[in-house]
Amino acid sequence: MTRKLFVGGNFKMNGDLEQLTKLVHQFNEADVDVESAEVVIAPPALYILPLKELARKGISVAAQNAHQLPAGAYTGEISLQQLKDIGLNWVILGHSERRTIFHESDELVAEKTAAALKANIQVIFCIGETLEEREGNKTEEVVTRQTEALAKVIGEDDWKHIVVAYEPVWAIGTGKVATPEVAQDTHKMIRNFLAKRVSQKVANDTRIIYGGSVAGKNAQELCNQPDIDGALVGGASLKPEFVDIIRAAE
Ligand code: G3H
Repeated sequence: MTRKLFVGGNFKMNGDLEQLTKLVHQFNEADVDVESAEVVIAPPALYILPLKELARKGISVAAQNAHQLPAGAYTGEISLQQLKDIGLNWVILGHSERRTIFHESDELVAEKTAAALKANIQVIFCIGETLEEREGNKTEEVVTRQTEALAKVIGEDDWKHIVVAYEPVWAIGTGKVATPEVAQDTHKMIRNFLAKRVSQKVANDTRIIYGGSVAGKNAQELCNQPDIDGALVGGASLKPEFVDIIRAAE
C-alpha cells in the first residue's frame, strides 16, 4: 500500500481569531492538491469550532490534546467524546511540550491514545528524544520506549488510525532542523521497530511524519526520504509558507 502523505499544522498557543481566520482563508484559497496529501490543522481549543466551519473540504481540524476520561470533575480539560461531539476526527497526543512541561508520561500518552481510538478519533502520536538523549546515543532507546508503551495497549488493527510524528525535541522551534539523513535513519528505526513489535503490515502502512523546524525551504528534501511520510509543522504553519510545505509533500 502506498502511504498517503500527511501534513499537520500545530498552531500551539498562538494567534487570535482574526489572525487565524485570515490564515485559514489563505490556506483555503491556495492551489494545493489535498487528494495527494492529507492536511490537518490544530488550532488552540477555543478556535477549533469556527475554524472547522471555515476550513475547506480536504483540510481537517485536530485538537492539540485531550483528557483520557469521557467526563467528570477535571477543570480546564476537554474529553475525546466532546471533541467527537463537535465532529473532530483528529487529536495530537504526546507532543513533547505536553510530555515535558505538563509531565505526561509514556503510559499516560498511550492511555490517552487508546481512549481516542475508542472514541473514533485518529491520533497524531508524537515521540522524540532530547538533545542530551541524542548525544548520549539514546535515540533508539527513547523512541522505542515511547512507541512500546502504545504497542502494549492497542491492537494491530488500531495502527491504521495512528500517524506517528517523530519530533526530535532539539529541533522543535530552534531552527535546527534534522538533516534528511538523520531524520530518515530515525524514521527507519521506528518502522523497523513496528515491523518487529507489531507486524510487517503495520510497519509498511503506518505514516511516520517528521516535525522540528520544518519550513518551505527544507520540506521537500525531508519528504523525499523513503520513510518520511510528511511533516508536523509548528511555527511555519502560522504563515502562508505552510502552503509551500504542503506543495513540497504532494
Ligand atoms: O508540533 C510541531 C512541532 O513542535 C514543530 O514545531 O515547526 O515550530 O519547530 P516547529
